[in-house]
Amino acid sequence: MIAPSILSADFARLADEAAAVAGADWLHVDVMDAHFVPNLTLGLPVVKSLLGATDIPLDCHLMIDDPDRWAIGYAEAGAYNVTVHVEAAADPVRLAKDLRAAGAKAGLSLKPGTPIEPYTEVLKHYDTLLVMSVEPGFGGQKFMADVLDKVRTARRLVDTGHLTLVVEIDGGINADTIEQAAEAGVDCFVAGSAVYDAADPGQAVERLRAQAAR
Ligand code: DX5
Ligand code: ZN
Repeated sequence: MIAPSILSADFARLADEAAAVAGADWLHVDVMDAHFVPNLTLGLPVVKSLLGATDIPLDCHLMIDDPDRWAIGYAEAGAYNVTVHVEAAADPVRLAKDLRAAGAKAGLSLKPGTPIEPYTEVLKHYDTLLVMSVEPGFGGQKFMADVLDKVRTARRLVDTGHLTLVVEIDGGINADTIEQAAEAGVDCFVAGSAVYDAADPGQAVERLRAQAAR
């Protein structure tokens, strides 16, 4: 699956930018609060507007403090998948249950330096694992290949039936990096600059999809 990140889109034309990637599986929405990460983007009002402007399922990636308080609003609004950071969540198991009860898929994200092993029990409550392959905060950064070991571990846990998760990767995914990520076992690829800096974002999505399937 390919999830274009609107972080690299034109925020004044979000409906058009979503329409430009109509063939995408999920539309990745980066919510940043200038506390958990040193950048500020958009929040629930914009997500609500976007939900009315596109049929692509929204994949909301909350890079915010206190997701235990704020994440539920995105689920209740109708986001398809709501991902919180394990480094920020006080009670990630409770949070996953609340997100699912509100009708969303529950996602858990790990920063590049955060290991997966301590969270294998927690992940039993989640639908999506978002492995960060850059330090969260900005688009257009360099892919950190080190995190592929974490992807392999996640893949193994899923393939052996210990976990049921979509394994998603976020950061630095482009034509040069997507194949190694696919080989490591990623199911869903977030791509911001590789899609929206392209002359034809829709075509960029299809190219990435073809490369990942190779
Ligand atoms: C970074 C965000 C990413 C970002 C990826 O903190 O979580 O979703 O948009 O951008 P690229 O694909 O340009 O690395
Ligand atoms: Zn993201």
